[in-house]
Amino acid sequence: MSPRRVRAESDAVGRQDRPLRITVDGEPVDGVEGQTLAGVLLAADRLAWRRGRSGAPRGVFCGIGVCFDCLVTVGEDRDVRACRRRARDGDEVTTQSRAPGGLVDRNEPTPPPTEK
Ligand code: FES
Repeated sequence: MSPRRVRAESDAVGRQDRPLRITVDGEPVDGVEGQTLAGVLLAADRLAWRRGRSGAPRGVFCGIGVCFDCLVTVGEDRDVRACRRRARDGDEVTTQSRAPGGLVDRNEPTPPPTEK
């Protein structure tokens, strides 16, 4: 578990966590009810899950549904903003890419910025 997630037993408001599991490109990722898809991904140490047209990695930028950097496919629904969509147990998330190379390889180093 990521150190970014506050454990229920140490949460000041006394919440009760109800676990959920989603799959991201077929890999299981655990979260808790109430988290957005982006929250589940960030808590699992996934900071980027798609690539923009330039090939630069993208994840959460605004976190409020404005920038569309966090798009994923959920089931049959394309272009879902992960920062706005609550995760549901069993969600099948597929990452997207607008780069010619395809999907994000999380182990790949971040490419240098492109010159303009
Ligand atoms: S992070 Fe900006 S729309 Fe989701």
